[in-house]
Amino acid sequence: MCGIVGYVGSDNACPFLLDGLRRLEYRGYDSSGIAIHEGSSFALTRSVGRIDSLVERVGSKPISGRLGIGHTRWATHGPATENNAHPHLGGDGDVVLVHNGVIENFQTLKDELVAKGYEFQSDTDSEVISHLIAESLKRAVEVEGQPNVRYLNAVKTALARLRGTYGLVIAFRSQPNLMIAARFGSPLVIGVGRGEYFVSSDATPLVGRTDRIVYLADHQIAVLTADGFSVLHRDQGKIRVDIRPLEADSNEVSLEGYDHYMLKEIYEQPESIRNAMRGRLDDQDATAVFGGLNLTPQQLASVERIILTGCGTSWHSALVGEYLIEELARIPVSVEYASELRYRNPPIENNTLVFGITQSGETADTLAALRETKRKGHRTLAICNVVASSIAQAADGGVYLHAGPEIGVASTKAYTSQCCVLAMLALYFGRMRHLSFEGGRRIIEELRSLPGAVQQALNCNDHVREVANKYQTATNVLYLGRQYNFPTALEGALKLKEISYAHAEGYPAAEMKHGPIALVDDATPSVFIIPHGTTYDKVMANMEEVKARGGPIIAVASHEDPRVDAIADDVIRVPHVPEILQPIVTVVPLQLLAYHIAILRGCDVDKPRNLAKSVTVE
Ligand code: AGP
Repeated sequence: MCGIVGYVGSDNACPFLLDGLRRLEYRGYDSSGIAIHEGSSFALTRSVGRIDSLVERVGSKPISGRLGIGHTRWATHGPATENNAHPHLGGDGDVVLVHNGVIENFQTLKDELVAKGYEFQSDTDSEVISHLIAESLKRAVEVEGQPNVRYLNAVKTALARLRGTYGLVIAFRSQPNLMIAARFGSPLVIGVGRGEYFVSSDATPLVGRTDRIVYLADHQIAVLTADGFSVLHRDQGKIRVDIRPLEADSNEVSLEGYDHYMLKEIYEQPESIRNAMRGRLDDQDATAVFGGLNLTPQQLASVERIILTGCGTSWHSALVGEYLIEELARIPVSVEYASELRYRNPPIENNTLVFGITQSGETADTLAALRETKRKGHRTLAICNVVASSIAQAADGGVYLHAGPEIGVASTKAYTSQCCVLAMLALYFGRMRHLSFEGGRRIIEELRSLPGAVQQALNCNDHVREVANKYQTATNVLYLGRQYNFPTALEGALKLKEISYAHAEGYPAAEMKHGPIALVDDATPSVFIIPHGTTYDKVMANMEEVKARGGPIIAVASHEDPRVDAIADDVIRVPHVPEILQPIVTVVPLQLLAYHIAILRGCDVDKPRNLAKSVTVE
């Protein structure tokens, strides 16, 4: 949550800052701001609302300078106002900074600083850090021949007082060529250019600017000037860091003709699923292969229980994983909300493997749940999209999704890639146990046909738009499915809620009789996910029950299924795939349905209200 950027180099900082903030806008979009060093002071521009309004403001009063920092905010402390927008000045404008994270002891520090005469302009926890650094600067001594050391020491002294999380970029009025970045719990990367250096919350703003990147780890501090950069550990001094190639393609972060990132990402799914499988299907042994699990075959063979944990959509894919792994590998699986697992302290037996599932790799609860289970001695693995993210680094090993950047706040392609990776893991564990060679071969074939099936499912788009048109004003929608399609019901409902603000509930179809059926009336549509499969007749019966009570019915059904036409008001067809892979196909029309309803209701699908792409606070 919150996106931060910084630039120091020989060019004007402003274009990178504004473009970078645009690319990070998915992380938070309540307000934004930039500060540019103008020689003897900082020019500060802040604005409430989207980056567009900041750009407009900057355009009416252009600023240029070779060092600058920027921020796009997701409010935690204090509402979205101009004063609460970052950057925040410290002291008498000696220091300026942008912050991503939460400072838990900010009130104690604030009281202390107020008593010393510091005047606060905002309600934020972040402003405390800027004054704290200004205060530390008063006592930090010059080191001859090393002008930056005094500033670095002031930052270190201030950081030592903070309790909470931070990604920080800091600049100083008296040092027009010095920027300091620090990380603890909130991600930060450095872009290594030629005669210019960038700081950002993630790699997306760097694409097209440089092809070299450094992922900072917790407790690391980077000192950057136009002439170079160095990284040190907060307590241990200078360290060598890996400068890695940045491989993202600039097309991956542009709209490429689509109206919204969400739509683009829905359409990318055949390709993202292909990428999730690339190099991981082994015909020779009829299994899947994973390079990064970092566990010995003995450790993997001795697994007796698996815990899958995550939040939101990633938690839904964990539910799909539960069905898959239990069916194919016969290993007991429990699915846990990461936010509950981190505090719940359940008994966990030895030989339990804990998977954290996450698109961003930055979700605070998932990170904490993994750290807590790892601390207790269990092996932790990540199923993650963002390379070198906090969760990828914290886990003992893992599997990358390779879905490419997911920018739309509503997760789509990451979900189907997670389900696909979980299917391959189920195959892998299954083949280590009871799954036969023939069974493994069949699953590999079925997996290979998935991208084609998803491509075909996308053909329903025009029809789904018509259906959306018909139901766009509904204020309550039920989503119902069974077995593998129960998580799909939850995911379809979440998609609709988060981007169209209509109330929606997902239920196992048979559970409906135990309460939600009371909601059914002629204004409450029910979306049934009813492809051919073992519970088809049962779900048909549930559909009849809704029909008998006058509820409109939208069915997501297999192509070859005339029976649903007799009951459902609207039928959306998807190609038939085996039950274990149905979640990956049946979710596609539901993503599109949510998208079209949101557009018809005039909602901002890529940046729905109150949300942010990665939830880095509890
Ligand atoms: C999904 O559409 C949501 N935006 C949200 O539920 C998301 O899946 C959740 O916050 C978890 O994020 P992660 O996968 O990055 O950990």
